Amino acid sequence: MTDLLSASGDAANADVEVLVVGVFSGEDAPVLPESLSGVDAEFDGRLAAQLAALGNTGAAGSLTRLPAPEGLHAGLVYAVGLGDADDLDDETLRRAAGTAVRAAFGKATVAIAFEGDPEATATGAVLGAYKYEGFKTDGGGDAAPESIAVYGASEAAAARARVLGESVALVKDWVSSPANLLRPPTFAVEIEQAAVAAGLEVEILDAEALSAGGYGGVLAVGGGSAAEPRLVRLSYRPEGARKHIALVGKGITFDSGGYSIKPAAGMWEMKYDMAGAAAVVGATVAAAKLGLNVNVTCTVALAENLVSGSAYRPSDVLTIRNGMTVEVLNTDAEGRLVLADALSRAVEDEPDAVYDVATLTGGQLIALGRRTMGLMGTDSETERVRRIGEETGEHGWPMPFPDDIVKLMESSIADVSQCAAGLKRDGHMIQGGIFLSKFVPEEIPWAHLDIAGPADSDSAHGYTAKGATGVPVRTLVALLEEHAA
Ligand code: BES
Ligand code: MN
Ligand code: ZN
Repeated sequence: MTDLLSASGDAANADVEVLVVGVFSGEDAPVLPESLSGVDAEFDGRLAAQLAALGNTGAAGSLTRLPAPEGLHAGLVYAVGLGDADDLDDETLRRAAGTAVRAAFGKATVAIAFEGDPEATATGAVLGAYKYEGFKTDGGGDAAPESIAVYGASEAAAARARVLGESVALVKDWVSSPANLLRPPTFAVEIEQAAVAAGLEVEILDAEALSAGGYGGVLAVGGGSAAEPRLVRLSYRPEGARKHIALVGKGITFDSGGYSIKPAAGMWEMKYDMAGAAAVVGATVAAAKLGLNVNVTCTVALAENLVSGSAYRPSDVLTIRNGMTVEVLNTDAEGRLVLADALSRAVEDEPDAVYDVATLTGGQLIALGRRTMGLMGTDSETERVRRIGEETGEHGWPMPFPDDIVKLMESSIADVSQCAAGLKRDGHMIQGGIFLSKFVPEEIPWAHLDIAGPADSDSAHGYTAKGATGVPVRTLVALLEEHAA
């Protein structure tokens, strides 16, 4: 992984291949902050004019590459627009740093000199430096920078950015992993390794233990695969912590849809259907590494949704861990079944709040697109996640539970129907949330985060590469920090 360093002094002395400088929007030319006067002097005071001549007036997201003048120790200067100086916020810094670092792949050493909060800059830089190694025998293109130094970042800020970067990278590696290489038993072992390394307690339930525990949802969904399902529980118990937060994640290592099979086009994307589980594990590991003063229990349900003689069917009635019966109408709505078990188990500990994360519905993607999570649950918690997500740049928006959709989830033969009667698609994303709400007692504050869209990016932008995004790890960490305070 890229080494993240803190730098101090005048950026004009940076001895790196690429010096990244942040410039603000101006009328005809970008506006240079005072801290760049040493750098500008080496350009004979013409840096802003040169950038303007190249069409860069400091707009957020812009990037211009310049050869460094002889007086600088750097090889190249990348000028990145930070937009209006008065509007500078953390997300602008993260995106600008990420854009610069992605442009610097193939260069070994980078230094970044921005105004504003250096921790945000450092976070954007480490996120932008992520590369999925993949399986190309020739190595697969330019490597991420070996080291990135951020001006003004304290050792503590750099350390925090490093932890966030490591956790997000762990999640992205898992989410990008091909489905044949990450099946439930293997995923459970990899989660255990990451958790033990962070000092967490680990409990793994195999198929036998799931049977004994009455986990009818996980067993049904995982029943069609030769790779058995697992339920993994991680506990973080810092001394003196008062609150207890439960995190729950959907971990379908591959979702073929089962007998309600998906079309071939796009089915390959369903290797990412464990992104919710990966994210809650990543956040729990980060909480431990940061030493947050809050108890965390993370429960992830891992299963592979396939077709076989032992797979479950539409019309099956399942009994969930909490004793409730569910009528199955579509084997492709498997996420809510494994989450029903996982949520039931999580609330037995009587946590102060529960957050579940899942690539649950195609309806989320249709309604909100790829950059906004669907938030459902109790008002206090959906609003909390929305507010924190705005700060982290992992946006979400609360959804209602209207009576007509609640009514659609009634079954004539079981306690609840898995999908709307007749597979009516009204309020598709909301149906998932309403179903899950049956497994969380009303008095427990709860939010469900549907990340079907935001878990994966179809294009590179800011600090995000194409592919797995690691959303919402940083929001969960910030949530846990807020509960710790
Ligand atoms: N993993 C999918 C959700 C999904 C679908 C994410 C498409 C991204 C793109 C989930 O298990 C699923 O298949 N959901 C169904 C539910 C339906 C059968 C009630 C869906 O959204 O179509
Ligand atoms: Mn499905
Ligand atoms: Zn799924």
